[in-house]
Amino acid sequence: MHDFLYRLARPALHLIDPERAHRLAIAAVKHGLARPHAESDDPVLATQVWGLSFANPIGLAAGFDKQAEVIDPMLGFGFGFVEAGTVTPEPQPGNPGKRLFRLDEDEAVINRFGFNSEGLAVFAQRLADRRKASHTPGIVGANVGKNRDSADAAADYEKGVAAVTPVADYIVVNVSSPNTPGLRGLQARAPIENLLRRALADRAGAVPSPLRPPPLLAKVGPDLNDNELQDIAEVALATGIDGLVVGNTTLARPPTLRSRHRGEAGGLSGRPLMEPSTECLRRFYRVTEGRIPIIGCGGVSSGADAYAKIRAGASLVQLYTALVFHGPGLVATIKRDLARLLRGDGFSHVADAVGAERR
Ligand SMILES: Cc1cc2nc3c(=O)[nH]c(=O)nc-3n(C[C@H](O)[C@H](O)[C@H](O)COP(=O)(O)O)c2cc1C
Repeated sequence: MHDFLYRLARPALHLIDPERAHRLAIAAVKHGLARPHAESDDPVLATQVWGLSFANPIGLAAGFDKQAEVIDPMLGFGFGFVEAGTVTPEPQPGNPGKRLFRLDEDEAVINRFGFNSEGLAVFAQRLADRRKASHTPGIVGANVGKNRDSADAAADYEKGVAAVTPVADYIVVNVSSPNTPGLRGLQARAPIENLLRRALADRAGAVPSPLRPPPLLAKVGPDLNDNELQDIAEVALATGIDGLVVGNTTLARPPTLRSRHRGEAGGLSGRPLMEPSTECLRRFYRVTEGRIPIIGCGGVSSGADAYAKIRAGASLVQLYTALVFHGPGLVATIKRDLARLLRGDGFSHVADAVGAERR
């Protein structure tokens, strides 16, 4: 949305039910009510990861565009990449009742959507159609999950990976959403190893041989203890997956929370997640010795936050919740401030700053 339009609409959007506000925002973006205005990016922000060229390292996190409806307009707001999904193999409604809560005083959100999804067929078709038509430049990821009632989780992920491999620039296997019973249990060593090996095999099978397959990442954390984190890092290196997204929403409720909604069940995101998710990222970077690229996600709402994630080991950064509070004009602000911070410390490329706090 134009920043001006957003500022006009924001008080109204914040009065109505948050899920309705989100649906209205998607509809507005989709029907061009909110015309994006991309400027070309400062060259200091350009970065190459997995052989893909990102004009800037700031991405839209999964969950905003679950059904892959608004990828181009969101890229038009200046994101370097957009991660669509989570998509489940079969359509499913997600959890019943009110399931999205804005914690205004905390600049945070609690959600318990539980993967409301139109299903893989529709999702993959949208990605395919977009590729065929003229589209906004930018990198597009597809985030895949499992149906709530599926008995064979790994088979669900296999279906997802096979369907999106031909139509996505990168793939994320989401094993960390807190709102699907049993899902986070897939982060334990044996299940995640089995799941990733099968996902990698499916990806290989879905790519015509001379073409390079899209990188495959796992989305994890942030509520992992040291052993769990160590296991995931080892499995990531042993299986040869291409990267990690660190991470998802948290089940923790920091004592600083003030909003009346803080007791709601679900995953917490936004500002209170910045510190713990960056610490989780830092540990992954240390344990993997920087050998696999990490997308840092959780609580980013400024250029300084994005820079902190990069210095802690993120090759790329994502955000979602800050958009709810600051509107899409935030993307340009973050990029401008990040470029200034990089230059101020003498970096001429984002890549040179990745993990810099350890050097
Ligand atoms: C309303 C909402 C829905 C989300 N849905 C998904 C999802 O479907 N899949 C996923 O991997 N992450 C989902 N997330 C998590 C975000 O991608 C991100 O990991 C998390 O919110 C932390 O980033 P943030 O603090 O910038 O929002 C969702 C987050 C929110 C707030």
